[in-house]
Amino acid sequence: MNLTEISRYIADKISITPRSAAILGSGLGNFTECLTDKVVIPYEDIPGYPLSSVTGHAGEWVFGFAGNKPVICAKGRFHFYEGYTAEEAALPVKIIHELNCNSVFITNAAGCLNMDWHLGDLMLITGFIDYTFTKDKNNPQVHSIPLHKELDKIREIAKQQEIELREGNYVWTLGPSYETPAEIQDIISLGGHAVGMSTVPEMRKALERGMQVRGISCLTNYGAGMQDEALSHAEVLETTSRVNQKFTRLLAEII
Ligand code: HPA
Repeated sequence: MNLTEISRYIADKISITPRSAAILGSGLGNFTECLTDKVVIPYEDIPGYPLSSVTGHAGEWVFGFAGNKPVICAKGRFHFYEGYTAEEAALPVKIIHELNCNSVFITNAAGCLNMDWHLGDLMLITGFIDYTFTKDKNNPQVHSIPLHKELDKIREIAKQQEIELREGNYVWTLGPSYETPAEIQDIISLGGHAVGMSTVPEMRKALERGMQVRGISCLTNYGAGMQDEALSHAEVLETTSRVNQKFTRLLAEII
């Protein structure tokens, strides 16, 4: 099934064009609980749609209203480490764009690279670094994300909600294993503040298509070698479940 057919399948199931969209990362899918008049479209019901195999990713599109604003959310995404290409990883963004929605919010669970920050903090992504060496073999660089006037507005919303919203660069690594302590030190020296295995292909695609892109990382663990215990996906999910309410409140208000 091609992109147009997939998008048409989804468009046929929802009442109106969404004004905003969100891609919800590991353990952050609960956001959809705040939506009303929901329509759930499991990935497996969409002919020819890829399936996400990671625990914590539901694998469904959820359409609904945040207040009176129509929103569509992708719960479950496609990672490089599952064998998908960058184009496939960007499929949710392409669908959102095809649905005539020009604004996408990309979220993820990520490792925290600043010891002064707390686990469970949320970080607005102001730039990204591609640390996969798949596209460019040179030293990875920071690409900033145009946030324009949005930035002040988002800061203001976080302040009103008494959420300490961090800001920084999200670093994309290949996975599926976590980084080595040496890689984490290198990533910090390049200007990284959070590290994870997703988001950048989606952000790149959205920027390429001229969409409004915003991203938030939920900082679930310190980077490898920064804390005594070994990292685990269970720890990641434990932290996201602890901060789900805060995350939902912030995202709903920004959207
Ligand atoms: N590294 C990579 N991906 C992650 C991490 C991490 O420390 N935490 C959550 N996703």
